[in-house]
Amino acid sequence: MGGHRVLVIGGGGREHALCLGLNESPNVSLIFCSPGNAGTALFATNIDLPTSDGSSVVEFCQQESISLVVVGPEAPLCDGLADELIAQQIPCFGPVGTLANLEGSKLHAKQVMKQVGVPTADFKILDKDSNIDLALNEYSANPWVIKRDVLAGGKGVVVTENFDEARQFIQQSITSDGQVLLEEFLPGEEASMLVVMDGSGYVCLPASQDHKRVFDGDKGPNTGGMGAYCPAPVVTKTVHQKVVSRIVEPMFSFLSNCDIPYRGVLYVGLMITEDGDPNVVEFNVRFGDPECQITLPLIKTDLFELLMHAATDSLDNLEVKFHDAFALTVVLASEGYPANPIKGRLIEGLGHEVPKIGIGNKWVNYAGVKQSGKDYLASGGRVLSCSAMAYTLSDAAELAYELISTISLEGAHFRTDIGGKAL
Ligand code: AMP
Ligand code: GLY
Repeated sequence: MGGHRVLVIGGGGREHALCLGLNESPNVSLIFCSPGNAGTALFATNIDLPTSDGSSVVEFCQQESISLVVVGPEAPLCDGLADELIAQQIPCFGPVGTLANLEGSKLHAKQVMKQVGVPTADFKILDKDSNIDLALNEYSANPWVIKRDVLAGGKGVVVTENFDEARQFIQQSITSDGQVLLEEFLPGEEASMLVVMDGSGYVCLPASQDHKRVFDGDKGPNTGGMGAYCPAPVVTKTVHQKVVSRIVEPMFSFLSNCDIPYRGVLYVGLMITEDGDPNVVEFNVRFGDPECQITLPLIKTDLFELLMHAATDSLDNLEVKFHDAFALTVVLASEGYPANPIKGRLIEGLGHEVPKIGIGNKWVNYAGVKQSGKDYLASGGRVLSCSAMAYTLSDAAELAYELISTISLEGAHFRTDIGGKAL
């Protein structure tokens, strides 16, 4: 495919992983990352584009002869960045705004699932005229699940057994957003299935499992994700087949028949019942973070080719192969994360070489890390994650935990049970 110049939008661990994967491709000659982080700066060119202003991004791509734009986070997609790029014939990995709304509006996602017959929890829409107590009583057999219908950076969902807390969150959400979703609680085990999709076909990447609660044993508040591993054995062959026939196929048929088909990755957040029946908890229109960090290394096929095919509706022409191995990552978070992370502290023990990703290796995915002179400082809640790949999950876990023990950051915390459910 030749010496392509790629622009990656975003600056977290996910974008570091995307840049690392693209950097290994012989098809890529230069990677720009906006804004990037101290990790991407080691091998890519960080730039600060106003990504909510599509025309500035288009202008940059034209000036720099960018062959492909890969959008990491959901916000620029919901703002219509892909629409503006496509209008100028610039290939974009990431869907147009109307389709990004699958993540932008949980209510819209629920309506699409109903329309195409995808299994998901029952729900009610509550607004200022609703009888909140009555609605809560109808779903009182299990914890209450309440979801704001706005992009809230992972803070828009409350799962609680406390009636007063549920009531208060509903009232606050109605006041700020006009309405809120009250959802039936689904018991089961969660997994994430990332599906690369375009108008011509789709490729299911190996399923993974994130650890969303901050503390060991799935205790404490929800976070963006404290660690993940891939593939997740909870998604057996039979479960996988059910996910494909009941969820991926109907979604593909809907999304590939839109005016501009879905071109990007559809993140299917699953809850798998004891009987192995999958339900959709959420759709995201991007790679998960940290799922991306441990899913991409398992793809044997050139990452640029995969993303470029999806951006140009030619996935059906590509055979995608995977490594028969496991990858696992453990997130190191700043003191106070997720509520009030303390930023600006010194990180010690980082090697700062460009990592070699492969079976038997371990490496650091930089996220909230910035350079200040010779020092590397924590600049976010999730600072970095330590990743590894091996033929067994226990070896991958051992390598990742070995690596995290060599890094120090005052007050930092990490979970010690990543992968535990599968080990
Ligand atoms: P969401 O942002 O929709 O993925 O919700 C955040 C987290 O809340 C999920 O990862 C689940 O752990 C939990 N959750 C969401 N919806 C449900 C549900 N209907 N039943 C049980 N847990 C849920
Ligand atoms: N790790 C969950 C997410 O990216 O939404």
